[in-house]
Amino acid sequence: MSLAELQSRLEATLPDAHMEVVSVPGYQAIKLALINEDFPIGPLPQTVMNAVIKDPAYWAFCWGSGIALARYLRRQRGIVSGLRVLDLGSGSGIVAIAACFSGARLVVACDTDPNACLAIAVNAEINNVAITTAGIASGHFDIALLGDVLYDPRNRDVLDETRTLADTVLVADSRVKQTPRGFCHIGSMSARTFPNLGEFDEFRTVQLFRWDRFTIA
Ligand SMILES: C[S@@+](CC[C@H](N)C(=O)[O-])C[C@H]1O[C@@H](n2cnc3c(N)ncnc32)[C@H](O)[C@@H]1O
Repeated sequence: MSLAELQSRLEATLPDAHMEVVSVPGYQAIKLALINEDFPIGPLPQTVMNAVIKDPAYWAFCWGSGIALARYLRRQRGIVSGLRVLDLGSGSGIVAIAACFSGARLVVACDTDPNACLAIAVNAEINNVAITTAGIASGHFDIALLGDVLYDPRNRDVLDETRTLADTVLVADSRVKQTPRGFCHIGSMSARTFPNLGEFDEFRTVQLFRWDRFTIA
């Protein structure tokens, strides 16, 4: 796993961008290889735009919800300590790494994008933690974590699928305003995607939702 390989995957869509290893804002102990802060936002040439749309490098950003969820795990260590954790839609691996830092026993980071799986492996190495990567989630977990995965309408079944894989599901999302069916709204946090994507202010508030298979009466 190498940063150079990650760099060449980024260049395949954004030729003028490069990878930098930086501390995560609000969670300085985590270091990630991400797109350079002054990356070219646009207007991008049409060929570059087409490449970005076809193969968006989500893994080169640390999304607001991932940052919020990582900070939440640091504050509430007991949530993952000693447990088997699935980070679904892991991107850079920010949430998976935070779970390791908060004492998880086993962490699987799943992402359908093979480039994200490489990014997670590189970032796990940078942070000296053990994370298994997977393109498709399988197995059984104590808790599944999802940060900014529900942006895509095609993902509307993801929550039902995730509930078959874990006893607890924790969702952090800046796009979802309504509590998903069966979930409880447990709070909201303020966070912004890094490097700054220039998202609308409304996406700086991250909602947290939780579902438990077993609830204490
Ligand atoms: C917006 S990014 C968020 C990444 C990370 N959780 C964070 O907060 O920085 C969403 C990620 O979910 C992945 N993804 C989307 N749908 C997925 C699915 N059904 N299963 C696994 N990964 C998925 C995408 O490839 C992308 O890397």
